[in-house]
Amino acid sequence: MLDLSPMRAELAAQYDLSPSLDAAEATRSIWEKAARVIPFAEWAVHAPYVVAINRLKRERDAVILGHNYMTPQVFHGVCDVVGDSLQLAMAAREVAASVIVQGGVHFMAETSKVLNPGKTVLMPDMAAGCSLASSITAEGVAEMRRRYPGAPVVAYVNTSAEVKAAADVCCTSANAAQIVRGMDSETVIMLPDKYLAQNVARQVPEKQVVWWDGACIVHEQFTPADLREFRSFHPGTRIIAHPECPPDVVAEADFTGSTAGIIAYVGQEKPASALLVTECSMASNIADAHPSVEFVGPCTMCPYMKMITLEKILWSLHTMTTPVEVPAHLAEGARASVQRMIDLSGRR
Ligand code: 13P
Ligand code: SF4
Repeated sequence: MLDLSPMRAELAAQYDLSPSLDAAEATRSIWEKAARVIPFAEWAVHAPYVVAINRLKRERDAVILGHNYMTPQVFHGVCDVVGDSLQLAMAAREVAASVIVQGGVHFMAETSKVLNPGKTVLMPDMAAGCSLASSITAEGVAEMRRRYPGAPVVAYVNTSAEVKAAADVCCTSANAAQIVRGMDSETVIMLPDKYLAQNVARQVPEKQVVWWDGACIVHEQFTPADLREFRSFHPGTRIIAHPECPPDVVAEADFTGSTAGIIAYVGQEKPASALLVTECSMASNIADAHPSVEFVGPCTMCPYMKMITLEKILWSLHTMTTPVEVPAHLAEGARASVQRMIDLSGRR
């Protein structure tokens, strides 16, 4: 656990981090990308951190890869590349800078390290995990292989490097159906997300998909009854879900896709009103790019993604902590599983 008091004392001694309207004015062009969701007065609190982080990035030869679930001040303020898990993995392979700061959770940092092992990959908070990644170990993969002899194992990227190494191939929410369809076997093991597996099973009826009993603590909270009730009060709202939601929730949605798929759908369709059945920051991060769309609905947050704050990113770059390491024998196996996914999904 990060000890916040000494961290704050050290940062305050090194950087001018008091709320500043001058810093807010100097970074107005960044704020304008999030003006619908961050009042300018609040931006004066974030701006000194944005200025300090962006300066330190240059000094450390660092880039920040940010997932679509980062808060708007992180997403727009300091990230150099933003995207879904697949886009971030592809971007990590291409990073030329010496340092990658992962704006996301631990399994994403491991994936960056595995794909670009020569770089220093920093996690601003090592406690930023994922309920899916922590639901299974390599022993769980072995158990599934014993239960379904000969069936290939498709591991969601939301897994540790150890689990990726024990699997045959990875998938993300953007390519899961395509990867399962490409398996040369009637039975396919998908792990650890039972809901993603059940949603893929519907899309790929020619396969027998079997799954591990994991779930995302954010997406499992949505219910079909909530969505039906919402629709009855807000007729015409487009309901857009992530495939980590249970299948009966997905059945109520007008569209289902990865976080990047959701962004693309909103951009193409430009519905007057949209309910994003996923993590709360998604809507905030794209609100200004789609001024004609009213984003409605409850805010369900991923507590792990929300651990990555501007303050911790600054600390991470200031102290160059915490570097993520993956033992060579696991990195090799994990890299092979991710590479097979890239080859099968045809995205290089
Ligand atoms: P995406 O790959 O769709 O961005 O999803 C990652 C994730 O953690 C969703 O909960
Ligand atoms: Fe994991 Fe769910 Fe958080 Fe994504 S939203 S990182 S799947 S806990």
